[in-house]
Amino acid sequence: MFILYRVLTVIALLVPQSISGQLSLEARGEYLVKRVAMCVQCHSPRDSQGALLEDKLFLGAAIPVQAESRDWAIRAPRIARLPGWTDTEFIRFLQTGKRPDGSFPQRPMPPFRMNQADAVAIAAFLKSVKTSE
Ligand code: HEC
Repeated sequence: MFILYRVLTVIALLVPQSISGQLSLEARGEYLVKRVAMCVQCHSPRDSQGALLEDKLFLGAAIPVQAESRDWAIRAPRIARLPGWTDTEFIRFLQTGKRPDGSFPQRPMPPFRMNQADAVAIAAFLKSVKTSE
């Protein structure tokens, strides 16, 4: 009986922690992506008034402002669920600004130099994004 009680206590302590730990990682990633690094602003389409389309966040969008420079992208690609990226590659990309082949994306994509914790949280959130398609 005592052992059963101990086992139940351990389960009760571990389960909520692992669940809330996972949620808070993704919640932190969401905060960074929407409020700090502003990925959402470039990588999401907008309506005719310029408001973000909430059901199409992170599905990719045209870059409305064009620069004289040729090193300037016309589109920010889809990043919902990170198609084509392994977690490791993507986390490294946010820490170095470089793609796996060593090249940099065109501007206005910023060359981020994040710490690992922020990069991991962003990867967790973007992998979990629910899309309407
Ligand atoms: C100021 C606009 C802007 C912001 C902010 C921005 N991006 Fe981008 N991003 C772009 C553009 C434009 C491209 C396309 C670059 C190209 O085609 O070379 C891009 C490309 C990418 C790519 C593909 C890289 C590749 O292989 O070509 C990923 C992944 C990405 N962005 C993730 C993010 C994440 C995650 C954030 C936030 C932490 C972010 N971006 C913030 C504009 C932006």
